[in-house]
Amino acid sequence: MLEVSNVDTFYGKIQALWAVSLKIDEAEIVALIGANGAGKTTLLNTISGLLHPASGSVTFLGKRIDALTLHAIVELGISHIPEGRRLFPDMSVRENLEMGAYMRRVWKQKQKNLDEVYQLFPILKARQGQLARTLSGGEQQMVAMGRGLMSKPRLCIIDEPSSGLAPLVVEEIFRIIQGLQDQGIAIFLIEQNVQQTLEIADRAYVLENGRVILEGGSKQLLEEELIRKAYLGL
Ligand SMILES: Nc1ncnc2c1ncn2[C@@H]1O[C@H](COP(=O)(O)OP(=O)(O)O)[C@@H](O)[C@H]1O
Ligand SMILES: [Mg+2]
Repeated sequence: MLEVSNVDTFYGKIQALWAVSLKIDEAEIVALIGANGAGKTTLLNTISGLLHPASGSVTFLGKRIDALTLHAIVELGISHIPEGRRLFPDMSVRENLEMGAYMRRVWKQKQKNLDEVYQLFPILKARQGQLARTLSGGEQQMVAMGRGLMSKPRLCIIDEPSSGLAPLVVEEIFRIIQGLQDQGIAIFLIEQNVQQTLEIADRAYVLENGRVILEGGSKQLLEEELIRKAYLGL
């Protein structure tokens, strides 16, 4: 479904990604693991069109997308749920959600998609008139995810959804992500919460200093010495 091939991405003269390659299949949960500053967000932004690679390619459903705009890429079915949630704090829950359905492809089905998001997150329906800034961290993450789903994506890229949330809330977020997979949506999940992430992911990549240093099935990686030492503290 998605193929990133030999991608180099720069900030000005500073290279942040080095020959990164990866694949995501339909309805797969693929994790991207790595320390702060490893280049995880840079890779996501390179896929979603916020950044463009200096070399290499990104292909989605057979089409080159690495020179397309963010908007064109959302239209094709990739939704990026950003690090830090990026809500509009002084807009209501409902208005924030509707911002995710501005594209031509889904604008007409806005109400239907909103109903589906409310089914997935009943708490957001109850809070639909409330300003986003008055929500708890977990609820804000749900709004960010709901907004991403308003565009009916085939692939959801989710950047550190568990960041700053209490353990019980994290569990709920991870359950919801598994539910998305059950609906046939592929997930590219970026996390520092390695144990829980590998428990729900099918496969994972480990990024270090802008390079993929390890990849494999999640079960296999949970047994891997490097993962156990560097990321699980075992
Ligand atoms: N806007 C930017 N300008 C310059 N350098 C950046 C910018 N954003 C990130 N970087 C650098 O790129 C590297 C990777 O950052 P990032 O992708 O945010 O890592 P991660 O998401 O894994 O924490 C870091 O060294 C970071 O300092
Ligand atoms: Mg990041």
